[in-house]
Amino acid sequence: MYKFRTSCRACGYAAPTAPSGIKAAPSSEKLIPVFSLGVQPLANDFRQDGEEYSGYAPLEVLFCPRCTLAQLSVVVRPDILYRNYAYVTSPSQMMLDHFQKLAYDLADEMGHGIKDTQIVEIGSNDGRLLNMLRAEGAREVLGIDPAQNLAKIAREHDVPTLAEPFTRDLARSLSEHKPEPDIILARHVFCHVDDWQDFVAGLEVLAGKDTLIALEVPYVVDLLDRCEFDTIYHEHLSYLSIRAMVSLLSKTNLVLHHVIRYAIHGGAILLIIRRRDAAEPPHDSVGQFLDAEKITAETWQTVGANASGKITALKRIVMDATQTGKRVCGYGASAKSTVWINACGFSKKQIEFICDSTVQKLYRKTPGTDVPILPEDQAFVQCSDYAIMFAWNYEREILDKQKSFTNGGGKFIIPHPNVRIVP
Ligand code: TMP
Repeated sequence: MYKFRTSCRACGYAAPTAPSGIKAAPSSEKLIPVFSLGVQPLANDFRQDGEEYSGYAPLEVLFCPRCTLAQLSVVVRPDILYRNYAYVTSPSQMMLDHFQKLAYDLADEMGHGIKDTQIVEIGSNDGRLLNMLRAEGAREVLGIDPAQNLAKIAREHDVPTLAEPFTRDLARSLSEHKPEPDIILARHVFCHVDDWQDFVAGLEVLAGKDTLIALEVPYVVDLLDRCEFDTIYHEHLSYLSIRAMVSLLSKTNLVLHHVIRYAIHGGAILLIIRRRDAAEPPHDSVGQFLDAEKITAETWQTVGANASGKITALKRIVMDATQTGKRVCGYGASAKSTVWINACGFSKKQIEFICDSTVQKLYRKTPGTDVPILPEDQAFVQCSDYAIMFAWNYEREILDKQKSFTNGGGKFIIPHPNVRIVP
């Protein structure tokens, strides 16, 4: 189900040494273990009764002292994680606003807007973003996503989608049939990929001299600053710093050109990458981010201590509530909810259900527990005294939407950035 990964996927630190013709010997370098949640179920492995779960795997973070990349110690087989993927890009207003901002930034970076452009999106999910970019004037769009179920939805919305992982081989076959795309976009997919050398080689094959590559990834500095430990799960193989990205690209014909910071998903960055031979000089932001980044193994180790404090705080609130006869539910069956529920050891006794708007998750159970997912319907929330907001990245929107719950005396427990009760 999984394999161990002991060398840095960005800079190769701790890779076995292999003098020509001799079998590779283990390296004397070692990545540093900095965070662990023991053994955990796969965060999006929501199953119906009677269906088999994929299983458990270690959830441990290793730190590279050379390039500051943090990565999981194991890689779960992608076909297990993604074949039938329950994560669907949220149709929330916050996400739609973010897509608008992203479209604006891409247009700005292109210089002449996105009208008449050809766009390839890697990890295109249900095709929502490509659909929007087409409405903004993109001439031709192509999605690439290994999840068969999501590729099917995208095609139903007229977004041509290849249900395959992005690799160098796929890039080669695409480049034989199509002209170079104007934009290659990949939102929250790069840190799900194990073999960065192959992925980047694919980008090199596909990108022309004027192609703009835009990778949106969670920013590790936000995770560290706000102890977002619930964003650490098996799909997120890497926790990316700008330093690690620069190190990875240093051996390629691509270069980091511009970095833009976003608030979405608890803090993300858009990495604009261009070919080294492109005419544009790099933007000041790259140097500024590099100067500001001060990540060490010790920075990471404080996440462990702070996470234990947050877990204890949530357990205490929920135990106090249930012991006094109060009813608790969860709001948003995000992957983060699986991390929290398993880290706290909750079952249906403490959290009766989680409500969620995603059809694909309904009437399934939170991995590792018997907590069911029910529709996001006022009636379900209304019967609870407390709702734990596991989708805390949509706090404002959910509070607005569920005013009748809070007006009726219901309270949200928001676990981020610190565990607190609202109102
Ligand atoms: P995400 O943080 O990984 O995007 O997951 C958020 C989850 O919360 C997702 O399953 C959709 C769900 N959700 C709701 O149920 N209602 C809402 O209003 C919002 C914004 C999200």
